[in-house]
Amino acid sequence: MLKGDRIKLGPVKREYVESYLKWLNDPEITQYLTFFRPLTRMMEEDWIENLKNQNDTIVFGIIITDENDAEKLIGNCGLHAIDWKNRVGEVGIIIGEKEYQGKGYGTEAMELLLEYGFKTVNLNRIQLRVYEFNSRAINSYNKIGFVEEGRMRQAMFVNGEYHDTIFMSILQEEWLKER
Ligand SMILES: CC(C)(COP(=O)(O)OP(=O)(O)OC[C@H]1O[C@@H](n2cnc3c(N)ncnc32)[C@H](O)[C@@H]1OP(=O)(O)O)[C@@H](O)C(=O)NCCC(=O)NCCS
Repeated sequence: MLKGDRIKLGPVKREYVESYLKWLNDPEITQYLTFFRPLTRMMEEDWIENLKNQNDTIVFGIIITDENDAEKLIGNCGLHAIDWKNRVGEVGIIIGEKEYQGKGYGTEAMELLLEYGFKTVNLNRIQLRVYEFNSRAINSYNKIGFVEEGRMRQAMFVNGEYHDTIFMSILQEEWLKER
């Protein structure tokens, strides 16, 4: 369990399937992701079951505790496509419970994930892809210290229009310097 001021990152549990199905079948959320097909319970249960076999993926649930100490899952984040030789990983994040978006939880979760990626997994470079219209995500990533390093023009077709995909990254040395 990784602990921040307001949130924790914990292992993915089977019971999270309900939340994942709700979030990943919601077009307001999936417009920012590569998903576009309907997601079935069977597909999602298989994904959770398969996590244990995936040597290049480390996923966490994002959890907050309320005033009665009850835990609530509000999102999901992880390191993907980990390249152990070159020490590169790609991050992904969702604050799926929409009433918790825009309140700093995503930025805090990403900070915890970077600390884990750089100090525990010993990555040298953490990268991500984000669509140009996702200003909330880009603001959060800029604040953390990710820098834009390029874009793929009109690479994504979303909501009836083509959009650029922006590539961002942060290096371990940059992350250490900021902290
Ligand atoms: C992207 C995401 C993880 C960010 O987490 P979050 O908790 O919502 O974001 P935060 O509150 O930590 O930070 C957002 C920043 O953007 C700003 N912001 C908030 N709402 C915004 C909006 N609608 N448009 C633009 N900026 C916005 C905030 O002010 C904040 O910047 P600031 O602290 O400098 O003021 C979350 O919004 C999310 O899951 N979105 C849907 C899925 C997604 O886009 N995943 C990422 C794919 S690359």
